[in-house]
Amino acid sequence: GSPPLDELIASLTVEIPDFPQPGVVFRDLTPVFADGPAFGRMVEGLAAPAEVDPRAAALAAAGGREPAFDVVVGVEARGFLLAAAVALQAGVGVVPVRKAGKLPRERLSAHYALEYGTATLEVHTDSIAPGQRVLLVDDVLATGGTLAASTSLVEGLGGVVVAVSVVVELVGLGGRQRLAPHTVHALWTT
Ligand code: PRP
Ligand code: ADE
Repeated sequence: GSPPLDELIASLTVEIPDFPQPGVVFRDLTPVFADGPAFGRMVEGLAAPAEVDPRAAALAAAGGREPAFDVVVGVEARGFLLAAAVALQAGVGVVPVRKAGKLPRERLSAHYALEYGTATLEVHTDSIAPGQRVLLVDDVLATGGTLAASTSLVEGLGGVVVAVSVVVELVGLGGRQRLAPHTVHALWTT
């Protein structure tokens, strides 16, 4: 049979010490993305946060709707590879949160720090309607700076982040605590 998903992701991930700067152990997930069955299982897992997220499940029940979210938001760049596939799987649309200077129309911006740098993220102001239920997707949760900034952008537009789904959570870096009270759904924690 096939291994549990967390073991499969762990076995395909490559750890690179001191990339992109000394002291950082970079988790390279590109071999997981490149493996068809692993990619498929990963997308299914990311799209099903309600199974492990009581808040998302309760919201879905209240609305009488499945899936438990109206739109998927993905974070540039690795989050894009996942968010579009998750949205297709769930039958909803996908909205990009982009690095500064890429979106052409009226936008909301958030400056943030991540494990190895700082940057600015942006979203089109008309891309999320007030009250829309958002599933936020990215590959790696490290310090949580990136996803905290993304959450503030979604909420700045009146969206409701019903869950945050990531492939891997690096537990030592405090990202889950930083994102509280939002629920983090991680396929692999390490
Ligand atoms: C990586 C990763 C997450 C973020 C996590 O993106 O894809 O978005 O870092 O780090 P944090 O939890 O400390 O914020 P990166 O900014 O390297 O951009 P990329 O997707 O364009 O490679
Ligand atoms: N994004 C932030 N920290 C990371 C890490 N250690 N590996 C891969 N992506 C990351």
